[in-house]
Amino acid sequence: MSFLTLKNVSFSYPNGFEATQNVSLKFQLGEAVAIIGQNGAGKTTTVKLMNGLLRPTKGEVLIEGKATSSLTTAQMSKRVGYVFQNPDDQIFQDTIEKEIAFGPKSQKLEKAVLNEKVTAAAEICGLKEVLKEHPYNLPYSKRKFITIAAIIAMDPEVVILDEPTAGQDRESTDLLGKIISYLTDQNKAVITITHDMEFVVKEFQRVLVFADKQLRKEGTPKEIFWDEELLKFSALKQPYICQVAKSLGIQNIMTMDELGEKVLV
Ligand SMILES: Nc1ncnc2c1ncn2[C@@H]1O[C@H](COP(=O)(O)OP(=O)(O)O)[C@@H](O)[C@H]1O
Ligand SMILES: [Mg+2]
Repeated sequence: MSFLTLKNVSFSYPNGFEATQNVSLKFQLGEAVAIIGQNGAGKTTTVKLMNGLLRPTKGEVLIEGKATSSLTTAQMSKRVGYVFQNPDDQIFQDTIEKEIAFGPKSQKLEKAVLNEKVTAAAEICGLKEVLKEHPYNLPYSKRKFITIAAIIAMDPEVVILDEPTAGQDRESTDLLGKIISYLTDQNKAVITITHDMEFVVKEFQRVLVFADKQLRKEGTPKEIFWDEELLKFSALKQPYICQVAKSLGIQNIMTMDELGEKVLV
């Protein structure tokens, strides 16, 4: 059975604007899934429905096959953690350590277990040396890692990252890749919204494309990035490697190795 299910889910904001329309999805533990699509496509709205920050206007969200409508947002977010698009919407403590410890503290863990979770989350997010600092001593791009660590420390089965690659340099993007692998190795599901197509190709086996409120297609990077009609409709660009291949008259490759093989034949 899939861990998290969205069944014909729609959502309208209080002003009547429908941002998510009839989306059905299933997520398994241990998988890394990318969500791509233009700004305004409904990506953030859809993932907020997954952890109870927003509640569907139509359809339902299920965790382990059970409807979640009677669960509180706190109960849901223990199982499905959401890292905000803007870290400053999430950060409210005066040290990085307190920020990371806040979630697990509310779970009434033993002190030793709490410390272990905070240390492990800080370590994987590259924050071990700065735990005593004020979050705002770190630049915006690094503050994102504080909010990721804060969610990891709560140990949810699903981790949702909303545009973690925005404004990140190569080194930080590589660190994000490591964090995603660390989580899937622990059998967590990781759902990541991103505009970085190279990152999608490198880190994900399953890609969801959103456009104009709806899920338009899901598939492997190859199935998505060689569907030119879909890319056109969704106003998305192919990753560079696909663009290079296309300019050489070659189709359906995703890596330099695959390209090399086709060119050398
Ligand atoms: N609080 C809100 N009230 C009304 N409309 C909103 C609100 N938040 C977002 N929207 C609209 O919903 C649409 C989808 O937004 P969002 O889910 O944030 O898209 P994405 O994350 O793909 O950029 C956009 O047109 C946006 O303007
Ligand atoms: Mg968004």
